[in-house]
Amino acid sequence: VVDIRKYYAQSGMFTYDPGFTSTASCESGLTYIDGDQGVLLHRGYPIGQLAEQSSFMEVAYLLLNHELPSKDELDTFIYTISRHTMLHEQLAQFYRGFRRDAHPMAVMCGVVGALSAFYHDSTDIADPHQRMVASHRLIAKMPTIAAMAHKYSIGQPFLYPDNSLSYTGNFLRMTFGVPAEPYVVNPVVEKALDRIFILHADHEQNASTSTVRLAGSSGANPFACIAAGIACLWGPAHGGANEAALNMLREIGTPEKIPEYIARAKDKNDPFRLMGFGHRVYKNYDPRATVMQQTVREVFESLNVSDPVFETALRLEEIALKDDYFVEKKLFPNVDFYSGVILSAIGFPTTMFTALFALARTVGWVAQWNEMISDPEQKIGRPRQLYTGPTQRDYVPVDRR
Ligand code: ACO
Repeated sequence: VVDIRKYYAQSGMFTYDPGFTSTASCESGLTYIDGDQGVLLHRGYPIGQLAEQSSFMEVAYLLLNHELPSKDELDTFIYTISRHTMLHEQLAQFYRGFRRDAHPMAVMCGVVGALSAFYHDSTDIADPHQRMVASHRLIAKMPTIAAMAHKYSIGQPFLYPDNSLSYTGNFLRMTFGVPAEPYVVNPVVEKALDRIFILHADHEQNASTSTVRLAGSSGANPFACIAAGIACLWGPAHGGANEAALNMLREIGTPEKIPEYIARAKDKNDPFRLMGFGHRVYKNYDPRATVMQQTVREVFESLNVSDPVFETALRLEEIALKDDYFVEKKLFPNVDFYSGVILSAIGFPTTMFTALFALARTVGWVAQWNEMISDPEQKIGRPRQLYTGPTQRDYVPVDRR
């Protein structure tokens, strides 16, 4: 008879760490976070500097290739990415199989996973060159896939990529342009969205990145791994938080109703949480939220919009940051608190928010996946468990139960 308790006692070092709050699953040279100090570095560069001074394409190059690119390297990288923006024509047929009201994340899970059926060469993960081609394909095609999901949902024709535009400008045009009219990219909106992409590019071993690594550790092809990451990101506690935060702000409606919602968030018998508040790692402030708050103003001024939701957000932040509950539990606005407000002002429906997050995070996912596959020490990910079921017992035939 197997004595389960004895087994655990004799199995040497065994850690029980639900949610992996204190277990490193890998070594990584990509992203450093100091949650107490509110520090986020990509390959050593502070996120604030990257968001202010670089572009999403530069950050993508940095994460994939370890160093910031020279001018020539950046031009070549942008050219390479632009060569892969088209989607196989047959993939457009896939969209027609979805209901018109399908959530864009459902469409993206399906379409990204299906890329493996179209780009067989990129599934040879033992070849570093093919791994890089797969990474470029994924980064390049995500805007096309996301924009097509949006176009399909509103019944407009798909727009082909325009590679004379920037990565972000092209995405804006494919999303908001119509074939009958020229589309002029607003440079403030383009810059703001590019910044949002930078802020979401990577965040070390978060749930979706860990999912991509775990899926990839079995040797699964990169498209399947990224589809797994998209599925994980969809959850409201992760990528769905900006959609949830904006919905919450709209529900609150006016600053007068804020105390009612703060009281609900503090009530242990109420499952309600302030969406866009709190973070597993940042326990002082989220450095990305600071950049985001500043970007909201720029976008609002450029588009000449005044949305009461922004005033509600500012006031809610102000009230919560003075409230003992939030101070003691170190709950601060995270990146998602303001990103939804900006995306809504630009014109994205809330259902597209997580799709945009997936688009940006693809850069981190493929960089992390490449890092893992290139590691000679890499093993299949296989967490253990603490068994809490019955001890060994004998089978009883069905007529005697
Ligand atoms: N509103 C109210 N109370 C909260 C909130 C919140 N947003 N977040 C945490 N708390 C409370 C919890 O009730 C808990 O209280 P307790 O100790 O009395 O039980 C305590 O703070 C700690 O919360 P945990 O859930 O244990 O903290 P964890 O680090 O596991 O969770 C998380 C982090 C999931 C982000 C959480 O803060 C949350 O649910 N926030 C709202 C959702 C959100 O904004 N997610 C976006 C994350 S950022 C991203 O994905 C890019």
